[in-house]
Amino acid sequence: MKTALSALGRRTAPPAISWLMKTALSRPNLISLAAGFTDNATLPTEISRRLLNDILRSPKTGRPALQYGTTAGESHLRKLTASHLHKLDSSSFSSSSSSLKPEARMRMSMKDEDDSYSPEHVLITGGSQQLLYMTLEALCDEGDIVLVEDPTYFVFLSILQSRNLQARGVKLERDGIDLVHLEKVLERLKKSGELRRVKALYLVTYFQNPTGATTSLAKKRAVLKLLKKFERAAGHPLYLIEDAAYRELSFPGRADLPVSPAEPQLRPAAPPTALTLPGASERVIYAGTYSKPFATGVRVGFGILPEPVYTAVLRIKGNHDFGTANLLQHLLARALATRLYDRHVAKIRKNYARKAAVMRRAMAKHFPASVEIWEAGGGLYFWARLPEGIATGVKSKVFQAALKADVLYVPGELCYADDPVRARPDHEMRLSFGSASDENIREGINRLGAVLKKFV
Ligand SMILES: Cc1ncc(COP(=O)(O)O)c(C=O)c1O
Repeated sequence: MKTALSALGRRTAPPAISWLMKTALSRPNLISLAAGFTDNATLPTEISRRLLNDILRSPKTGRPALQYGTTAGESHLRKLTASHLHKLDSSSFSSSSSSLKPEARMRMSMKDEDDSYSPEHVLITGGSQQLLYMTLEALCDEGDIVLVEDPTYFVFLSILQSRNLQARGVKLERDGIDLVHLEKVLERLKKSGELRRVKALYLVTYFQNPTGATTSLAKKRAVLKLLKKFERAAGHPLYLIEDAAYRELSFPGRADLPVSPAEPQLRPAAPPTALTLPGASERVIYAGTYSKPFATGVRVGFGILPEPVYTAVLRIKGNHDFGTANLLQHLLARALATRLYDRHVAKIRKNYARKAAVMRRAMAKHFPASVEIWEAGGGLYFWARLPEGIATGVKSKVFQAALKADVLYVPGELCYADDPVRARPDHEMRLSFGSASDENIREGINRLGAVLKKFV
């Protein structure tokens, strides 16, 4: 009998990582440095219990939280989200280098009158993942093209695969996308007549998943300018989707430290968002989340979107779920309003900085010197690059030997788009210090180091 599945139902491939997750569960002694989970020990159980108790203590506050809400999201949370973002951007500017300050200050004061941060443009979603999905639904028809970083967040690539969209990879440098390559890619698409199919460029701008790279503000500005330049040939707006999932997980203190004394220009920092740039209110689609900084189990995200994308996504969300779980939105609104959220974020930033240091030290001790490490100033990941020619993919000897040694990583090849223009690099790996204990980080890196020494 024929299947009743739709083309999308038939086409959607199993998640790239599902096999890795299954493997992790089936081997009790395996240490997973693959999962992108947050740290269990610092999940905010006490804060959440206290705030939920406050909400549910009286019918006056409890009933609205237990009722359906609106599609766009709880109005107090939308307001708090807008002002939270504005505050983060203002403090990014004030902690930027002193040469930036006068220009930055001027821009920020202009921004006070600008409406990029207006609650009207904020949409609360079921994690930022839902926002990313709906944004692609609103922008792209089958066959359309989305430009992505090479490498990028692999679940985003899965959405593209499922919706029959094309990806083109743009090289990534340690301070963000390679602008020369971006222009080349756009030129090539223009020449081949495919620019009409390009809808957006997707960047994970802070402590990127998988590499840890952070995009500088100068690059964001140049990206917006380049996209604008090609709009006439495209025949429609070219949007910048800024995914800032890890933005709030910067390591305290680390921002001022160089990654390596030899390369001080690579020091990690948390620059302001593209929302602060001229023209942003028309072209930047900002994807934010409370998952990583608060609780992945609460899973509330948000978007700031320009028109007409905002209205289209709002209507699509009306069909998806007509509103994110209201109780969770009330919980987050309380966490933000009471500043317990800020206190929690301060605590977990320190914790991740410490865990990153544990992993960094273990890698220095156990990894061969020829393995290049991309070090982040925040987030949950290190990116390790083996010499080219030494494969790390699921079928590679390195991966199989690691599995035998009971340690799991995410093969770098999973993070590269299917791009007809280049072969998929396969000599890298993503290592996460998010959910593993200190002891498991040390032991996992020890095991992996022993494997790498055999092959590198
Ligand atoms: C880069 C990036 N964007 C978005 C998400 C989605 O997060 P959430 O839906 O929990 O907000 C993730 C989750 O791992 C991520 O790594």
